[in-house]
Amino acid sequence: MLGSNLIHFAPAFPSHLRPLASQLAIVPAFLSPHVHDCLATAAQLKLKRLARGPYLEGHFDAVIKGYKEATVSAWALPSSLSSDPLQDKMDDAYFDSSDQSVNRILRHFEATVNAFLASHNTPTVKRWLSPHVLDLRDGNSGIGAHVDHKSAFGDVIAGLCLISPAVMRFRHIEEPAAVFDVLLPPGCMYIQTGSVRHMFTHEIPISPLEHSFNGKVIERKQRISIMVRDGLDPAQASFKRS
Ligand code: OGA
Ligand code: MN
Repeated sequence: MLGSNLIHFAPAFPSHLRPLASQLAIVPAFLSPHVHDCLATAAQLKLKRLARGPYLEGHFDAVIKGYKEATVSAWALPSSLSSDPLQDKMDDAYFDSSDQSVNRILRHFEATVNAFLASHNTPTVKRWLSPHVLDLRDGNSGIGAHVDHKSAFGDVIAGLCLISPAVMRFRHIEEPAAVFDVLLPPGCMYIQTGSVRHMFTHEIPISPLEHSFNGKVIERKQRISIMVRDGLDPAQASFKRS
């Protein structure tokens, strides 16, 4: 498993379920600091246009709190535009925060996810949905336990993490003692597939004390993620959690 020092199992985690956690991959420092900054600037510009106004509180029973989000179709060019994204060097001089640069970065990201899946004998993603940008504000924000909607999304969810670290907690739906935390540093990418995607809920704890990794509280600062998912229904591009 990649980035395994960023994963912490609860003491009561049943050992027979441990192999399932390998269906979560984390690549720390996937983005160079320059590319990270380009993406963070580009994401904030999109949110300014597409998610105007204050952060949303969510309702009392809502899954998510203190957030803005947008689906950015301008970053969803057909993959045929890039003949071999794995050959695109992530050369800093090459990238700025323009849509075209962001497209190249995201095509490289998607190609890397597919290369990871192929190397694990898992079917690759044929059709990525438009990237989804989620901004959680500085403090008093987070996402409650959920599974991304199974009728809209397929087997693969991948994210790029920007600006500040987040703790993501996974809990097996049928075995509540099976809990593990991952620390997602800015600049990392992560991939959820298989059982981790379908059989575990994931959350970013809202309570400041719960937002901890291996006993250490991780301060919640503003944090943006860019997520790509494989789509099931071509007509379904909107985002749902359940
Ligand atoms: C979500 C989600 C994770 C992240 O938006 O459904 O789980 O990394 N986000 O922001
Ligand atoms: Mn989710």
